[in-house]
Amino acid sequence: MLSRVARPSRLLCVVREQFSPKRNLTKEARVAVLGAAGGIGQPLSLLLKQMPIVSHLNLYDIAHVMGVASDLSHIESRAKVQGFLGPDNLRPCLDGADIVLIPAGVPRKPGMTRDDLFNTNAAIVRDLTAAVAESCPKAMLGIITNPVNSTAPIASEVLKKHGVYDPRRAFGVTTLDVVRSNTFIAEAKGLDVSKTNVPVIGGHSGITIIPLISQCTPPVSFPPEERVKLSMRIQNAGTEVVDAKAGAGSATLSMAFAAAEFCKSLIEALNGQEGKVQCAYVRSEETEAKYFATPVLLGKEGIEKNLGMGKLLDVEVNLLKAAMPELIANIQKGEQFVGDSK
Ligand SMILES: NC(=O)c1ccc[n+]([C@@H]2O[C@H](COP(=O)([O-])OP(=O)(O)OC[C@H]3O[C@@H](n4cnc5c(N)ncnc54)[C@H](O)[C@@H]3O)[C@@H](O)[C@H]2O)c1
Repeated sequence: MLSRVARPSRLLCVVREQFSPKRNLTKEARVAVLGAAGGIGQPLSLLLKQMPIVSHLNLYDIAHVMGVASDLSHIESRAKVQGFLGPDNLRPCLDGADIVLIPAGVPRKPGMTRDDLFNTNAAIVRDLTAAVAESCPKAMLGIITNPVNSTAPIASEVLKKHGVYDPRRAFGVTTLDVVRSNTFIAEAKGLDVSKTNVPVIGGHSGITIIPLISQCTPPVSFPPEERVKLSMRIQNAGTEVVDAKAGAGSATLSMAFAAAEFCKSLIEALNGQEGKVQCAYVRSEETEAKYFATPVLLGKEGIEKNLGMGKLLDVEVNLLKAAMPELIANIQKGEQFVGDSK
């Protein structure tokens, strides 16, 4: 019989099994993070490094990324971590990637809207996506950089210019809006947040964020005033964090969590798991806006089916109407930017 000291605890066994190199080794998933040394990039990379389903983690940035990669590479989990610094190393970073996540760019400061970031971030997303188009055109691409309402269309236009656009594989990452909705509604109703799911449709800025509280699982009901207050809190939750950080940036930790969850679903779907659904801002025929966030069913080739917005309450229809002009203008601005670029 093993002595008390020699017998590994059950917890230790679970931890060992989680990080065992034998687990899930059959399937490779190569993930590249562009902007990996930033406020989102670092915790996102940490969360990805902890996932046994990630086999390779390539980290790119224009600053500080070699230290981040070295640090993460010492963690005893499966993913092989490599750092890539500066434009000369961008293409090697992307070679063979299955999934590319882009959080590169500047975040908001108090008083700024996401659209105020356009001038700096549009060019960053354009140039990084051009490298994706050349190096790993079949990769699933998740755009985190704001303003997502415009940067996701920018990425799509760049992929089109390179003749490699597949709308099933290009996503604006809006998972954080769902994460926030789940949290706030579960708190308000005393629900188990791990079993709460609120679809969020539309775009990813202010009034373009449309939480569908009427479609919450489990079903919830609120007096009209409280419902309006909750919807507004969800729409302005990013600003809540920007103000609390008082000049030190925007949401990074919750965003990293959200992007990691999104990436996990993508990998699981690529690996053949069925029923993986995430809300994302994608090319869409749902409304007159060319890009629109809805729940999408993920599969081996990316989006298998757009699940649409379902039946809306009148109050949600009004939110939708209010969102459309801004969303359409944001999309046009992104498309125009690529059209005007050489
Ligand atoms: N989609 C969402 O829900 C969501 C939520 C929060 C923040 N964001 C956005 O994510 C972006 C990043 O936010 P952050 O807080 O991590 O910012 P940050 O400034 O902390 O980090 C950005 C990183 O991008 C790098 N970078 C800049 N230009 C680059 C380039 N050309 N190539 C590669 N890397 C480059 C910087 O060196 C830095 O490491 C911002 O645009 C922010 O608004 C999106």
